[in-house]
Amino acid sequence: MSAVPEAPRAASSEEQVLVAEGLAKHYAVRRGFMGHGVVKALNGVSFSLARGRTLAVVGESGCGKSTLARQLTMIESPSSGRLVIEGQAVTGADRAKLAGLRRRVQMVFQNPFASLNPRKTVEATLNEPLVINTPMSAAERAERIAQTMRTVGLRPEHAKRYPHMFSGGQRQRIAIARAMMLDPRIVVADEPVSALDVSIQAQILNLFMDLQDQFKTSYVFISHNLSVVEHIADEVMVMYFGGVAELGDKKTIFANPRHPYTRALMSATPAIFESDRRVRIKLQGELPSPLDPPSGCAFHQRCPYAIERCRIEAPALREVDARQVACHRAEEVGEVNA
Ligand SMILES: Nc1ncnc2c1ncn2[C@@H]1O[C@H](COP(=O)(O)OP(=O)(O)O)[C@@H](O)[C@H]1O
Ligand code: SF4
Ligand SMILES: [Mg+2]
Repeated sequence: MSAVPEAPRAASSEEQVLVAEGLAKHYAVRRGFMGHGVVKALNGVSFSLARGRTLAVVGESGCGKSTLARQLTMIESPSSGRLVIEGQAVTGADRAKLAGLRRRVQMVFQNPFASLNPRKTVEATLNEPLVINTPMSAAERAERIAQTMRTVGLRPEHAKRYPHMFSGGQRQRIAIARAMMLDPRIVVADEPVSALDVSIQAQILNLFMDLQDQFKTSYVFISHNLSVVEHIADEVMVMYFGGVAELGDKKTIFANPRHPYTRALMSATPAIFESDRRVRIKLQGELPSPLDPPSGCAFHQRCPYAIERCRIEAPALREVDARQVACHRAEEVGEVNA
């Protein structure tokens, strides 16, 4: 993918391409006859992502994953917090700068049936970002489209076809090709294999990993499925109720999760991890209502480890055993599972 002019890329693999500091997004909502309420969909999330690495974001439906994705891709602007992309602050950037930053962060959505325009051929879909963002000639664009189609495992001779003429997996390949057209530094993928047949999921995950090897793209990979996460992640961020429950290196967290919620998620996923076989926590109850947040730890009503303190005091995210964890009892949670 060399046709698009490239900014120089630093050699260091530890270069942070994305830094989020205290990102929050609150939505004002109408609340029946009661007037207005505020949904704190995202409540102060911080992390950083190095070049060529994958951060997997995991948590139940409603915990704020897609809201996070919309802030990272600059589809929305956060209520508070800071976002820095390749060393450049998004907050306060002028329009021209923002347009440049948006190019570098592309998104792949869950459902390729909904995210592709049914009236556009593959060629038209892939051509659009080039027309808008590059000075490439028609011939250069055609070459680039063919090249990208091959890269994602599509046949360039199918460029004139419409989305409905492809299978679900192929459609997701088209969506991935669209995201890769401008050689992004970061791809935010929001449950990109959840809508696909299980038999196809591994192929698409492998495609993501191949592209990362080739182009050193960084991924924020959202999934509720821990076996998918185990496959693709370098780092894992477990979210609960708009906040970070546990964040760290995949191996560290999978070997010995120290947040009861992480343990519960692992227990709900059939036999993936060693530690999972030692302890079983069944997730009971549902996520609390975002309009009526619980006191103290947001997980306390569902947590088998909860103590009185948990009902009163929200646990701060802190470092325990080489990862970040927001639990008053993190030290014990990792130990009491023999
Ligand atoms: N535009 C919005 N207005 C009001 N509430 C929203 C909006 N978008 C998301 N929410 C609420 O924010 C919470 C997080 O949603 P979301 O980010 O979609 O979670 P996830 O992707 O993890 O399922 C949910 O309670 C959801 O109802
Ligand atoms: S702080 Fe308390 S309620 Fe929250 S996860 Fe830890 S033990 Fe459970
Ligand atoms: Mg979502």
